[in-house]
Amino acid sequence: MAFRLADRIRNLEDYPFVKISDDVKKLQQAGVDVIRLDMGSPDLPPPAAVREVLSSHVMREDQHGYTGYRGSARFRQAVARYYKRLFGVDLDSDTEILPLIGSKEGLINMALAVISPGDISLVTGLGYPAYIMGTKIAQGEIYTVPAPEDNNFFPLLDEIPQDVVKRARILWLNYPNNPTGSLASLGDYAKAVDFCRKHDILLVSDNPYFEVVFDGRDVAASVLQVPGAKEVAVEFMSLSKSHNMAGWRLGACVGNAEAVSALLRMKSNMDSGHFNPVYEAGVAALDHTSRSWIQERNAIYQERRDLLVEAMPAMGLKLKTIPKGALYMWANVPNHDDVAYCRGALHEAGVSITPGSVYGQAGSGYVRFSLVTPQPRMMEAINRIAKWQSIL
Ligand SMILES: Cc1ncc(COP(=O)(O)O)c(C=O)c1O
Repeated sequence: MAFRLADRIRNLEDYPFVKISDDVKKLQQAGVDVIRLDMGSPDLPPPAAVREVLSSHVMREDQHGYTGYRGSARFRQAVARYYKRLFGVDLDSDTEILPLIGSKEGLINMALAVISPGDISLVTGLGYPAYIMGTKIAQGEIYTVPAPEDNNFFPLLDEIPQDVVKRARILWLNYPNNPTGSLASLGDYAKAVDFCRKHDILLVSDNPYFEVVFDGRDVAASVLQVPGAKEVAVEFMSLSKSHNMAGWRLGACVGNAEAVSALLRMKSNMDSGHFNPVYEAGVAALDHTSRSWIQERNAIYQERRDLLVEAMPAMGLKLKTIPKGALYMWANVPNHDDVAYCRGALHEAGVSITPGSVYGQAGSGYVRFSLVTPQPRMMEAINRIAKWQSIL
């Protein structure tokens, strides 16, 4: 090679879904009809009115310039109205809300804004990979806080050693949780806010699934509902899952003004905001999507979840907890080799599912199914895996 890559990139693993998608593509090119139950990319469309707003704005002549580093004021105001309506939380749309090009970039940029080399990120044993990846890119260190199932996968913050607490800069939380589907209560969040306030740690609540909840629930909690949370917390919201808009790349970081401003400094040096028609469609999504649209969509996910719950034994898997929210089913592989199980499911049955170890060490021995495939296709996947298991 005529040039040398930075240590930063040489020490960074590929994002797990790059490898999974490459493996799937190879099989598809060889003619295999792969059923994808790996990524959490919603298969259902956003509300029709949202798509109409996008297309009408695209046709206008005055919509094509840069939109400003703080994003569109109209979108920020819509996020403020949304938080007020869902959670009763007041946000200043100028200083406490920053639009993002999907929440993933915001999470990574927040790690870069807060973590210096040698600083510690506190993560739970199971979590979305961006918290660890962002910390690694910032040359920080990871400390895994125990978050046992009998504590609803919420971290036991009192068990963190004092020397770790002193060097900790961010506590990352995510409920409804990917991959377990567990929820956090306001009491859980209040404990985390207290802990972070006591130790000067930024609490990052990554909350893209608060609108995806089951069994008659309306919406999951926001950390910002805890009185005083804004002193130490930000929340990342996203329209990817709440409004089936994953490809549109639209979200926001909301909460503590100082953290939002640090993120703005980071981002304004990296990107130049989003496309105005996307912001306008986001305004329509947040202001005009009815509760019944959300409930009907969640009922479809719930039916798919229940189908998988019933099929666990036939697929040689053991269900631990029935997910209460988010888009996933978390299951135990009795022989504990999640990677071998997923390799077999892909190559022998043509079904792509995600090895639990992608979500951290505590995920080893588990697999994750996503709920973003129509029922008949999901049924076909279940039958294929059951057949593969029965001939093993
Ligand atoms: C927990 C969690 N956070 C953040 C994201 C990123 O969402 P987006 O970048 O599409 O807003 C995902 C996507 O699956 C996720 O599961």
